[in-house]
Amino acid sequence: MTSLLISESQPWKTLYLIWFFATLILVKLPAWFIWYLVPSHRPRRSWTIKRALIVRTIRELWTLEVDIDDEKRDPSDEVPDSELTDAKFVWVDGIPDKLFCGEVHRIADITNVRPTRIAGYWLLQKNYDWTGPRAKPGEKTILHLHGGAFYVGTANPSDTTANFTRGLLEHMHTIQRTFAVDYRLTASAPKPPANPFPAALLDALAGYRYLVHDAGFAPENIIVAGDSAGGNLALALVRHLIENPTPSLPPPGRILTASAWLDLSSSRRGPGSSAVLNAPSDIFDERPGELFAKYAVVSLLGPMGFEVAQTHRYLSPVSLACKPETGLFAGFPETYVVAGGAERLLDDSTALVERMRADGVIVIQDIPPDAVHDFLVFTWHDPERTEVLKRLSRWMDMM
Ligand SMILES: *[C@@H]1O[C@H](CO)[C@@H](O)[C@H](O)[C@H]1NC(C)=O
Repeated sequence: MTSLLISESQPWKTLYLIWFFATLILVKLPAWFIWYLVPSHRPRRSWTIKRALIVRTIRELWTLEVDIDDEKRDPSDEVPDSELTDAKFVWVDGIPDKLFCGEVHRIADITNVRPTRIAGYWLLQKNYDWTGPRAKPGEKTILHLHGGAFYVGTANPSDTTANFTRGLLEHMHTIQRTFAVDYRLTASAPKPPANPFPAALLDALAGYRYLVHDAGFAPENIIVAGDSAGGNLALALVRHLIENPTPSLPPPGRILTASAWLDLSSSRRGPGSSAVLNAPSDIFDERPGELFAKYAVVSLLGPMGFEVAQTHRYLSPVSLACKPETGLFAGFPETYVVAGGAERLLDDSTALVERMRADGVIVIQDIPPDAVHDFLVFTWHDPERTEVLKRLSRWMDMM
C-alpha cells in the first residue's frame, strides 16, 4: 500500500500480516469499540459507532508497511466482456498532435511524456441495452476520472472509486451510462520512475476526445467529473481546452469535483487549516497522509523542482503561490463542488469555490459537515452519500 516496504521476503511478510491483523481484530477493534461507546469520544458526535470504527480501521490500514495489492493489469491487455458485469471495455486512442499543444506540451517535453493509447470503461445502468459506444441524439454522459493520489486505483469497475458513478447511475434518470479512462499512474523510487505530469492529463484528454469524436457526444452534454486526484485532472482537462481553443473540441458542459486534491504543495497547512483541524476525523491520519502526498508529488514532478507543485496552475490551481489569483478560472463551465466537512482536503474545495466565484463561474457547493474524504465512494457513508448523490443526479437531470 505504501512505498515503505518492510520486507518483500515471504516468511516475514506473512508473519507481519498475521500479527497486524490479529492485533487489529483481537485487541484494537474491541478497545476502540468500548471507547467509542461514548459519543463524545468519536471524531464527530453525529457519527454512529459503526462509522467511527470503520474510519479508525481505514486509518490503521494505511499504516500497513507492505504492498498487498500490487497486481496491476498489463495496460496492453484487453479486458474481456466475461470479466465485466455492468460495463464495457474499449480502447481510447492517444490525442493527436493538434491537441497535444500549449503548456501541457511544453511540460511534456521536460518530463519526456507522450500521448498513448489507453483503456476505457463504459459503466452501464441496470438493464441497459448496449448497442455500442455511439451516442443517441441529445444523449448526456459523465467522463469520470478516478481518485487514488495519481498512483493507485483504476477505471476498472471493480475499483472502489466506481462506487461514485455507480451510485449516480442508481439515481439519474437522463444519464444511463458513464465513461471512465484508465489514465497512466505515476511512480518513483523505490519503484522505477513512471508517468510524471502530464501523462495522466493527456490520457484524460484522450478520453474526452473519444467521447466527442469517436462516440459522438456533444461537448455541452458531457460532465467531466473526478474524485480526489481525479478532481484535479478534471479541472486541468478543462483548463487545457479553454487555453487552447479547438473548434472541433470545445470545453464540456459542466464540471463535478468531489473531495478534489487541488494544492499539491499544501500551501494552507498550518494552525486552523483543514489539514490540521480535520486530521482526527478523516480517513488519513496526518503522517500517512503526508507520505502518500509526498510520494505522489515526487512522482508527478519527475525531473522538475518542488516550486512547480507550488505555483503551477495545472497542478495546484488553488495554491496560495499560484498567481495571478484572479482570472485563473475565467471561462470555466458551471461546476458542482462536493467535499466532506470532516476531511483534511476541505480547504482545497472551499478555495476552489472562492476563486471560481470571483471569476464569475456558476458554482454549487455541497459540503456535508461530518463527511470524510471521498465519501461518495463509501457505501457505508450514509445518509450523506445518498443525499448528495440525489442532489447531484437532479442537477444533471436538469441539464
Ligand atoms: C462499493 O459498492 C459495493 C456495492 O454496493 C459495496 O459492496 C462495497 O462495499 C462498496 N465499497 C466501499 C469501499 O464502500
